Amino acid sequence: MFYEMNSHPDIEFRQVRYGYAGGGEALRGISFAVERGTKVALLGPNGAGKSTLLLHTNGLLLASAGEVLVAGLPVESKSLAQVRRRVGMVFQNPDDQLFMPTVEEDVAFGPMNMGLPTDEVESRVAAAMRAVGAEGLRKRSPMQLSGGQKRAVALATVLSMQPDILVLDEPTSNLDGRTRRSLIDTMASLSATCLIATHDLGMARALCDRAIVLDEGRIVADGVCCDITDNMEILSFLGY
Ligand SMILES: Nc1ncnc2c1ncn2[C@@H]1O[C@H](COP(=O)(O)OP(=O)(O)OP(=O)(O)O)[C@@H](O)[C@H]1O
Ligand SMILES: [Mg+2]
Repeated sequence: MFYEMNSHPDIEFRQVRYGYAGGGEALRGISFAVERGTKVALLGPNGAGKSTLLLHTNGLLLASAGEVLVAGLPVESKSLAQVRRRVGMVFQNPDDQLFMPTVEEDVAFGPMNMGLPTDEVESRVAAAMRAVGAEGLRKRSPMQLSGGQKRAVALATVLSMQPDILVLDEPTSNLDGRTRRSLIDTMASLSATCLIATHDLGMARALCDRAIVLDEGRIVADGVCCDITDNMEILSFLGY
């Protein structure tokens, strides 16, 4: 069973379509597979469907047609608990992620829910806070943090679960240069498979092996990250 699980890509989309109620189709036949340990940038203009695509990787949205698989497991209502143990998701808006009275409780929430012993929870919280450079924020209320601090803490709430698969929506937006750099270094040090929606081409170049470009719910380019980010036609399409 173990070997069988590992023979599958970590994330696979097969002809996925998704339409929001009352809106147009946001995904119009998306197919790709991400192998274990790969870091993939998801690029594309505002409204291309990046966030919509990411929300399918842990079943927050379920495909209207086609199939999403995580480590070979189809993402559907009955597999959500299993899928969410594998996939750590950081939302585009950190306010969607933070809900406990203090930062440390938010970062401890995932590991506590996994039933880990208290000392393991504590060491994971400490490591996650250190990884995002937010040790000083532990006792603060998440509501009262700056945008960049919230973003760092939101990432820590996911790192503390040590997921095999990390899905990040615009992780560097609103970060100052130093915080952004240290976040990129943290991400580079992780062996987790990563799928990262971003407008930050510098981060994509520094971190990602591969890039997928979305436009109007379709994949319009998929290749080696630096080939994509150095392609003048794609750069001009993205508005750089
Ligand atoms: N909750 C919703 N209800 C209806 N339509 C939505 C909803 N969320 C997004 N959309 C629409 O779906 C399309 C894709 O949006 P999505 O948020 O996935 O884009 P994105 O690539 O993440 O953009 P951005 O770079 O601005 O974050 C857009 O046309 C958007 O207006
Ligand atoms: Mg988005």
